Amino acid sequence: MSEIVLDVRDLEAGYEPGVPIVRGASITVKKGEIVVVLGPNGAGKSSFIKAIAGLVPITGGSVFLDGKDITAAPAHTMVRLGLAFVPQTENIFPLMSVEDNLKVACGILERREIPARIEEMYAAFPDLVRQRRTAAGNLSGGQRQMLAVARALIVHPKVLVLDEPSAGLSPKFVSTVFEMLAGIRKSGVTILLVEQNAKAALAIGDRAYVLVEGKDRHEGIAAELWNDPVVAELYLGQRPLGAEKTGHAGKGGTA
Ligand SMILES: Nc1ncnc2c1ncn2[C@@H]1O[C@H](COP(=O)(O)OP(=O)(O)OP(=O)(O)O)[C@@H](O)[C@H]1O
Ligand SMILES: [Mg+2]
Repeated sequence: MSEIVLDVRDLEAGYEPGVPIVRGASITVKKGEIVVVLGPNGAGKSSFIKAIAGLVPITGGSVFLDGKDITAAPAHTMVRLGLAFVPQTENIFPLMSVEDNLKVACGILERREIPARIEEMYAAFPDLVRQRRTAAGNLSGGQRQMLAVARALIVHPKVLVLDEPSAGLSPKFVSTVFEMLAGIRKSGVTILLVEQNAKAALAIGDRAYVLVEGKDRHEGIAAELWNDPVVAELYLGQRPLGAEKTGHAGKGGTA
């Protein structure tokens, strides 16, 4: 029987009283899965995962992490509870070195554990070890995301939650980021991922949900959703996602 790590039920959340942005969204993430949340622009995907992470006020519903009710837990307690959130932007300290970025992410670890844990992150992300003295702001887009993810993983989270890790990256780095996430899942980490890049996200995901106007409207096996006409209807309002790849030159942003 698979164990549910994250259980979000009928979540309602928003920035202003009386203006819900997340309107009754429910998802589950099982141990070891990559679950993808897709949806059109402005559907409330970022608001949804920020609410889970304690960053947007919740007005209804519940969030359980490993069976524990964390609905009312403040954002700064999430890491200790086992939820590591990687925001879309401002997820590293650009003026600090790579190594200092990792060190300051170690807050909840035992002091004596920290040097070995930093070395483990370098072993997992060899690009970072070569740049350990570099200011994080000077990294490439792909390496920045690696650092942001390493900062989140360093404290052994039960679930890694990411908002659009491929946003703004060139196609080469997009595939680097998705390969990295697939590798992290292989190492046993549970992942909840919001992505615009539906094709690449569905390629590494196990299951996916489509969020529309703040509500989960469809769910399925990731590999099956790419050609699912219901998803196309919800997501684009018309064509199947698979029919999307005319238009831009090149590989359409995926490997
Ligand atoms: N800080 C904020 N204050 C008030 N309203 C906000 C704030 N952030 C987002 N919203 C509103 O919430 C709605 C959903 O936005 P959100 O960013 O969650 O959508 P999204 O699905 O992540 O979109 P995108 O695909 O563009 O990333 C939008 O109408 C947006 O204007
Ligand atoms: Mg967003």
